[in-house]
Amino acid sequence: MGLRLLLSAAVFTLLTISFFSEVHSASFKIVNKCRRTIWPGLLSGANTPQLPTTGFALKSGKSKTITIPKSWSGRMWGRTHCGRDSSGKLSCLTGDCGSGMLQCAGSGAKPPATLAEFTLNGANGLDFYDVSLVDGYNLPMLVLPKGGTRGGCGATGCLVDLNGACPKELRVASGGRVVACRSACEALGDPRFCCSEAFATPDTCGPSMYSLFFKYICPRAYSYAYDDKTSTFTCASADYMIVFCPSPYTSQKLLGARKDGAQLPLVNKTTMYIPSHHANSASYSGR
Ligand SMILES: *[C@@H]1O[C@H](CO)[C@@H](O)[C@H](O)[C@H]1NC(C)=O
Repeated sequence: MGLRLLLSAAVFTLLTISFFSEVHSASFKIVNKCRRTIWPGLLSGANTPQLPTTGFALKSGKSKTITIPKSWSGRMWGRTHCGRDSSGKLSCLTGDCGSGMLQCAGSGAKPPATLAEFTLNGANGLDFYDVSLVDGYNLPMLVLPKGGTRGGCGATGCLVDLNGACPKELRVASGGRVVACRSACEALGDPRFCCSEAFATPDTCGPSMYSLFFKYICPRAYSYAYDDKTSTFTCASADYMIVFCPSPYTSQKLLGARKDGAQLPLVNKTTMYIPSHHANSASYSGR
């Protein structure tokens, strides 16, 4: 074999190896557009190691970028109204993970909490992601893929403050202010709402009046356990921006220009102006 042929064979082999073995490791840029500090929490799924960080404080207007290993699956949420007791233990009014520390260290969010869920490099090398209200709602969240190569790569999230509009029987209040909105399953325990017992299949568990309330306001978010069709998004080799308390107006402008595989709008314009008669809306950034 001539030297040139040998060299080009070597180069070809190297290229082939790097092409097939390189599975994209993603980055998550987590942005806090809320008026107050939030404490994001991260939990890895079964058979996935915990990330180097599983929780931290993020001041208003700040962001933090973390590198996510290939094939990671797990969820992220925001803890709100956290403080330390006299012994230094951290506890939060919503999304608390019970660790008593900034790091959640393998524990998940106590509902209600808005969740961003990810399975990276799943079937066909696609990332699967969604924003879920199945465990209730505490903060508006937007998930925005960037630089994806395949898949619909749609933005998803729940951009509207649901706390102000939360039905009475689902409210979590503190100091006269609604801080979170429970799922009907958690608040009322009816297997019909939980898709459990006799209602544990997609055929027997449909949307309820409560899940429809969530779905109308946040059309792309998961509103009950079998809401997959309109709530799961895919993208390949993307990085993700996860924004807490995005401004619905700016986000819509920003997203209007994107190619987007989703059938439903990110924001339902007719429900965008729901009265928020609680002081809670003051904790979100201006529009
Ligand atoms: C928007 O909200 C209205 C009123 O609640 C509802 O009838 C409509 O179906 C919603 N649209 C979407 C796309 O969810």
